[in-house]
Amino acid sequence: MKAIEIRNKYLKFFERHGHKIIPSSSLIPENDPSVLFTTAGMQPLIPYLLGGKHPEGTRLTDYQKCVRTVDIEDVGDNRHLTFFEMLGNWSLGDYFKEESIQMSYDFLTKELNIPVEKISVTCFAGDEDAPRDEVSAKCWEKAGIPKERIYFFGKENNWWIAGNEGPCGPDTEMFYDTGKPACGPNCDPSCDCGKYVEIWNNVFMEYFKHPDGTYSKLKQRNVDTGLGLERMTMLLQGKETPYEIELFLPVMDRLKELAKVDNINSRRIVAEHLRSSMMIICDGGRPSNIERGYILRRLIRRMTRHLRKLEINLDEIGNLVDIYVETLKEMYPELVTNKNTIKEVLIEEKNKFVKTLENGEREFNKAVEKAKKEGKTKIDGQTVFNLYETYGFPQEITVELAKEQGMEVELEQFDKLFKEHQEKSRLGSEQKFKGGLAEQNEKTIAYHTATHLLHKALKLVLGDHVAQKGSNITTERLRFDFSHPQKVTPEELKKVEDIVNEQIQRDLPVVCEEMSLEEAKKSGAIGLFENKYGEKVKVYTIGDFSKEICGGPHVEHTAQLGKFKIKKEEASSSGVRRIKAVLE
Ligand code: SER
Repeated sequence: MKAIEIRNKYLKFFERHGHKIIPSSSLIPENDPSVLFTTAGMQPLIPYLLGGKHPEGTRLTDYQKCVRTVDIEDVGDNRHLTFFEMLGNWSLGDYFKEESIQMSYDFLTKELNIPVEKISVTCFAGDEDAPRDEVSAKCWEKAGIPKERIYFFGKENNWWIAGNEGPCGPDTEMFYDTGKPACGPNCDPSCDCGKYVEIWNNVFMEYFKHPDGTYSKLKQRNVDTGLGLERMTMLLQGKETPYEIELFLPVMDRLKELAKVDNINSRRIVAEHLRSSMMIICDGGRPSNIERGYILRRLIRRMTRHLRKLEINLDEIGNLVDIYVETLKEMYPELVTNKNTIKEVLIEEKNKFVKTLENGEREFNKAVEKAKKEGKTKIDGQTVFNLYETYGFPQEITVELAKEQGMEVELEQFDKLFKEHQEKSRLGSEQKFKGGLAEQNEKTIAYHTATHLLHKALKLVLGDHVAQKGSNITTERLRFDFSHPQKVTPEELKKVEDIVNEQIQRDLPVVCEEMSLEEAKKSGAIGLFENKYGEKVKVYTIGDFSKEICGGPHVEHTAQLGKFKIKKEEASSSGVRRIKAVLE
């Protein structure tokens, strides 16, 4: 059975059971600032789970586009996907456990014709917050699942909540037995050896979890279910991975034809990230340095990197998009109307990344030179990590290039730094970025870098007495206060402007390094607000032009800034001048 047939069967089945079919919401949540993407079918329905009246009634069903990005680095194995479709049905204070379980049982065994012997289920074992879910277990038994295939587990397996607070409850999950041998005597559905694959999750949402960790009862008892379409399709087709189903096959086959290097993981990564990026762009997402834009950027970069690894010409991206649109248009007709935009965004971002990689290679060469001069045979992990973080320069490329130079790479230290970084971005994609970064966007980041250039240019033109006294950045302009005893003349301003623009045109790489405050000062970095910094500081170096202690973030290379223009010069306070400038 094809994915679309499963989808249609599902919607029709629930329609027959009194559900209204509602359309899939955008991948980009409209009114929910707590998540970057729609991660589950229930997300757009939260207001109604909490008791709001849904215009379509109390029984709903849909197919929902979802993106989950916690596992980006795992994509490439045989099961993780960042984009997937979730089929769902909801009771908003309508039916509860018995009817829900009966419908699931009937759909699986009568509509999809899954032999009942292949199905196991799990229920909530109970704890201080909610009782053991004997009711669900009884319902399963009554429906036809023998007792020995009904398992009980605690919150870690059988409790569902999106994030840390909100509507939630015990769930009952259905598992498909792939027929693989058990991995040991204790193998059960909670084991991820691959014998049991979760296929459907019915959440009995009658609780609300508060930020302090306590639970209260919701106004109404809801049911929220989710069935992953790609996974179900794969199982029904007897395939080992989702990449073998019709949604991925045409692109997977084409990648195999094009690749000069045989690497199944890379082909999967390209196929998965391309589809995911296309869907995100289609719903209005655009690459950037923050939040969902950053996730999209990472997806496109990782895809590009693996295309390179496969030695596939990057100009093929457009053709691969065509293949996907053809493959998926029946399921997502919006891809057809947005095809050109999707291509444009992907290609532009790919070009940026290629440039970044080139800059990274330059930086890499410098690092090698330095290491060689110092008589070292290894490139230290911090350098490898900086290349990764600032240039998105993949570790495996660094290793490869190092090898060509007869050098090794200190991977242990890199791994440690990388893990810390991963943890940070995991937190970042689960909750939204907190604090300063929340106000950051491409514009303010660009102004931030421009401020460094301006600072240095002022020192060059006016003298070394120039020191930063204040800085304020909005998306419209930068404002920079600095010590200088008299008015800056128009000629001097013109010189400053020209110097900044020259540095922009030189397209200097912006590199971030971490070091102790002492090392930073020794390196000649300009130190601002010194007493605010802890032991370790970040030093941003812009080519050979500027070096400054700063928390960041910054652009990756100066050409990203555009044209720099000083709009105003005025007195700020005694001995302090103020410049306002824009990037055009
Ligand atoms: N919200 C649950 C899930 O995402 C069921 O829809 O699995």
